[in-house]
Amino acid sequence: MSRWEQIKQDFPIFNSSKNSDLTYLDSAATSQKPKCVIDAVREFYENYNSNVHRGIYGISETATDMYEKSRENVSSFIGSSHANQLVFLRNTTEALNLLSYTMGRNLVSGDEILISIMEHHSNIVPWQFLEEKGIKVNYTDITADGKLDMEDFRRKLSPRTRIVSLTHVSNLLGTINPLVDIGRMVHDNDSIFIVDGAQSTPHMKVNVQDLDCDFFAFSGHKMLGPSGIGVLYGKEDMLESMHPFLGGGEMIRTVTTSGSTWNDVPLKFEAGTPNIEGAIGLSAAVDYLRGIGMENVRNHEKDLIEYTLKMEEEYAIPDMVSYGPKNTDIRGGVYSFNIGEIPPMDMDEKFRENGVMIGSSVHPHDISTSLDAGNVAVRSGHHCAMPLNHRLGVVATSRASYYVYNTREDIEKLFDQLEKIRKVYDLGR
Ligand code: ALA
Repeated sequence: MSRWEQIKQDFPIFNSSKNSDLTYLDSAATSQKPKCVIDAVREFYENYNSNVHRGIYGISETATDMYEKSRENVSSFIGSSHANQLVFLRNTTEALNLLSYTMGRNLVSGDEILISIMEHHSNIVPWQFLEEKGIKVNYTDITADGKLDMEDFRRKLSPRTRIVSLTHVSNLLGTINPLVDIGRMVHDNDSIFIVDGAQSTPHMKVNVQDLDCDFFAFSGHKMLGPSGIGVLYGKEDMLESMHPFLGGGEMIRTVTTSGSTWNDVPLKFEAGTPNIEGAIGLSAAVDYLRGIGMENVRNHEKDLIEYTLKMEEEYAIPDMVSYGPKNTDIRGGVYSFNIGEIPPMDMDEKFRENGVMIGSSVHPHDISTSLDAGNVAVRSGHHCAMPLNHRLGVVATSRASYYVYNTREDIEKLFDQLEKIRKVYDLGR
């Protein structure tokens, strides 16, 4: 048994009689959980379930200790110099909304925010909220091979750009963006640099100090941890100077009828009872990933995406198109594709003749449903990146995304099934 087949044995879902023969290729949406993570959450409930930072009794002190140790563990996993720089939130989306809300308070009409066309909706919509204040959101374009267009980035990075917020890895294209170089440009421009690390932290070694980003956000559920736990890393001085996001218990130092003062960071941003078991589960996931080694995780996924591109060539399925860089040095384990072109309604004139669609295509939802019949799970749709779909001239794609429990056999199964689907839909060729 290969190392990766052995790793798969650590994930109870693949041994469940309910899922015999499941090929799970949707880890960019959410990852499966190893037994050690499930056990860590169960142990919390069975042995010391209680609230944190509040109770002066044994199990509450244990819970607080476990929660804060989890913060330290996750903090060191991303190379943060201090655990105080790590705020536990629900997910990446909440972290980016927090930043939009708090940063937005200091922005004025005419200020600009620079993002990119390859962002997930969670790194678009929160910034669009600020447009009603007269703040402009600019979008860096991509190149034909799915990379950030750096010339366009330089052109749009202006003295008015107050914030640059970019994804580390595209959830649709798999592109790994050159953030170290970008970070230098952003800071030379005196702008704030935010990184959406939802698709990078699970899959490669991340070091926030090397990236020199001001903020870095990611989600636990995509990196073998529980749902509902996410992280915002921020440089301590930045977090200190920011207004809180949610008000309530725990985030305050004093409350009087004439006003309130705030707790120290990071608790200033953790109003209400946090997801204690989520943080503990995430810490167990981090330990598990450390055990494999993040370089090994990255190399394994690089091998899988290289093998995918090789299979694509070998199978040569008619009308199959895929998206994202072919250079696997800058490509994560994400493979989005279509069989035939699926244009958005407002871009499909060239595909119509007398009002009738021409050309060959299988809708991504049909691909997904047909793959499911063969126990292969992929995501189909816009992948919460509608502007990128529009930029690519498609309404949707199907997406296979990989993680530590996937093997080359999974990819062979995917292509075997796709070839059958292509035949079943017999596209008239
Ligand atoms: N953001 C997740 C994805 O890309 C849900 O699938």
